[in-house]
Formats: sequence, C-alpha cells, structure tokens
Amino acid sequence: MDKVLEVQAEALQAIADADSLQALQDVRVRYLGRKGSIQALMSEMKSLPKEEKPAFGQKVNVCKQVVTEALEKRQTELNELALINRMEEEKIDITLRGNDLHLGTTHPLIMIQQEIEDLFIGMGYKIAEGPEVEQDFYNFELANIPKDHPARDMQDTFYIDPNTLLRTHTTAMQMRELEKAKGQTPIKLICPGKVYRRDDDDATHSHQFMQCEGLVVGEHITLGDLKGTLEFMANKMFGEGRKIRFRPSYFPFTEPSVEVDVSCPFCNGKGCSVCKGSGWIEILGAGMVHPHVLEMNGFDSEKCSGFAFGIGLERVAMLKYGIDDIRNFYINDTRFLKMFDRFD
Ligand code: DAH
Repeated sequence: MDKVLEVQAEALQAIADADSLQALQDVRVRYLGRKGSIQALMSEMKSLPKEEKPAFGQKVNVCKQVVTEALEKRQTELNELALINRMEEEKIDITLRGNDLHLGTTHPLIMIQQEIEDLFIGMGYKIAEGPEVEQDFYNFELANIPKDHPARDMQDTFYIDPNTLLRTHTTAMQMRELEKAKGQTPIKLICPGKVYRRDDDDATHSHQFMQCEGLVVGEHITLGDLKGTLEFMANKMFGEGRKIRFRPSYFPFTEPSVEVDVSCPFCNGKGCSVCKGSGWIEILGAGMVHPHVLEMNGFDSEKCSGFAFGIGLERVAMLKYGIDDIRNFYINDTRFLKMFDRFD
C-alpha cells in the first residue's frame, strides 16, 4: 500500500516538474504506459494474498485516476504557457515607425500633358492616340510630304524599314484621325504623344521628345479661331495677360502656316534674358490644314476648312519651370524629379 502512495507522490512531483509538453509526455509514458510504474503495480497484485487484492486494486485505480487528472491539468497549463510564449515572440509593436516608402512623383512632362488635356477637354476636344512605330504613309505621305520632297530633310528620321519609322511628329496622328473621319465633320481633337528624331542630344535637342497636336475641322473654321484658341491656351498655361503673335512660316501640311510666339511671361514683353530681349518666345507651329491634305483624306475643301497646331511639351515645361537642359527630362535623376512634388 505504501508503495502505491510512493509511486503516486513521485508521479505527481514529476508532473509538476515537467516544463514542456514533451517532458510531460515522457512522464505519461513513464507512469501510465504499458511498461510504466502504475502498470507494474497492477502486475504485483498477482502475488498478494487473495484478501488483500481488492483493497490494493482499488488503491492503484485511485492512483491511476489522480495521476491522469494531474497530467491533464498540467497539459492545459503548459498549452496556455506555450500560447502566451508564442504571442510574446510574435508580438508586433504597431506604434513603431514604419520604413519610409519612396513614392514617385508625376513626371513634369506628364504634368504638362495633363494640363493641356484638361484645358482642351474643357473646350469640348477629344483625345486621340496612335502608334509610335508609324508608317511612312501617315507620317509623311498623307501630310503632303511625298518621297523626295525637300521637307523630309526638316525632320531626320529613324527608319525601321523603307515604309516604317518612329513617328517624327504627332501630325502622323492628325492624318490617321482625318482618314478615319472619312470626310465627316466636325473634328475637334488633340493628340499628345512621344516623337523621335535623329538629332544629337544637347541642352536643347533630344532624339526623343513629346508633342501635342491639335486639330479642328468644320465649316467656316478660320485663322481667327486658331488665334483665339491658342491665346486661350497661352493664358491658361503661362498666366493671364499673355498675348500671342503669328509669324509667317512653312509647313507642307498647312496653308497658310505660322510660327506662334507668346509674350514673354518673365518680363511681360519688356525684354529679358529668357526672351533674348525680344519680349516674345516661340512656342509652336500651326496653320490652316492644307486643302490638298483635306482632299487626300476625303474632305471637300470647298465646304470645310480646319486649323492645326503642334506644340512641344519639353519647351513648355522648360519655360514654365525654368529648366535649362532638356536632357533633365530623360536621365531619371530623382533629385530633379522630386522637385516637382509641390506642383503635383
Ligand atoms: N509637325 C510640326 C513639327 O513637328 C509641328 C506642326 C506645325 C504641327 C504646324 C501642326 C501644324 O499641326 O499645323 O515641327
């Protein structure tokens, strides 16, 4: 009988000492397993005198029950402890400062593009898109620049094959839109996009740059409409009070053609270093769509007319933000790009 109590006391102590679930499992095997100490007590019962057997058996059963209960209780405790430890280990301090994320900013050229888009959408224009890898047909032929025309020399071209090139101007999109309209008016759209020329890069030249083309075709469209539209744009882009002036020029796809100057926003037309003392800054090329271009695209040039213009976005951005080297837009120096945060 004492032996039973001894085993029981020993087992309870071992259970209390077990400090992990694995250790507790070992204790269980050691006492309750088939070869464990409590099973051994059962075997001892065989050698006892008959009258002592029931009391001894009862004692061993009680011992087994007490030990089983203690094991279960300790197991619950250890499980809770393991959970607490895990939570402690995996704890996240949500009050800690996070890693700084370096967010990009809108590229200054995209800002200008969006500004132009917003202002023309406000006047009821649509926005058109077209391919940068373009056919000679749209870039030149439909724009009234046939093969061997000297005007092809105005734009040094990246050819992919004799009929395929990187578009040299957004006028290619103007031609696609004219062709698509199949002689139907009115047309009122702008086409912003990248263009490419075989230029050597320097402070004012880049082999890749951006333009935005404008095109309006309808009845009774005049040079006066063009002037009013461009004046409105100049006032929105460079500040109220800007004037514009037309100088005669030549483009094969317009007649008459003009070069457009805006009164210098830096000196208000008085003359400064930016406008080289003239009070005017050239910002774009424009004109009335050439009747031959209208006819080639299926329009009756007796019944309708149109104006068109093409503006260089780098030039606008350089003037607006006082940037003196066009290459800044393309070298992806984040110190340069970050400066435009505040305009975003
Ligand atoms: N395509 C011309 C260029 O890249 C710009 C231009 C001039 C576009 C007159 C026009 C225009 O639509 O009417 O130099």
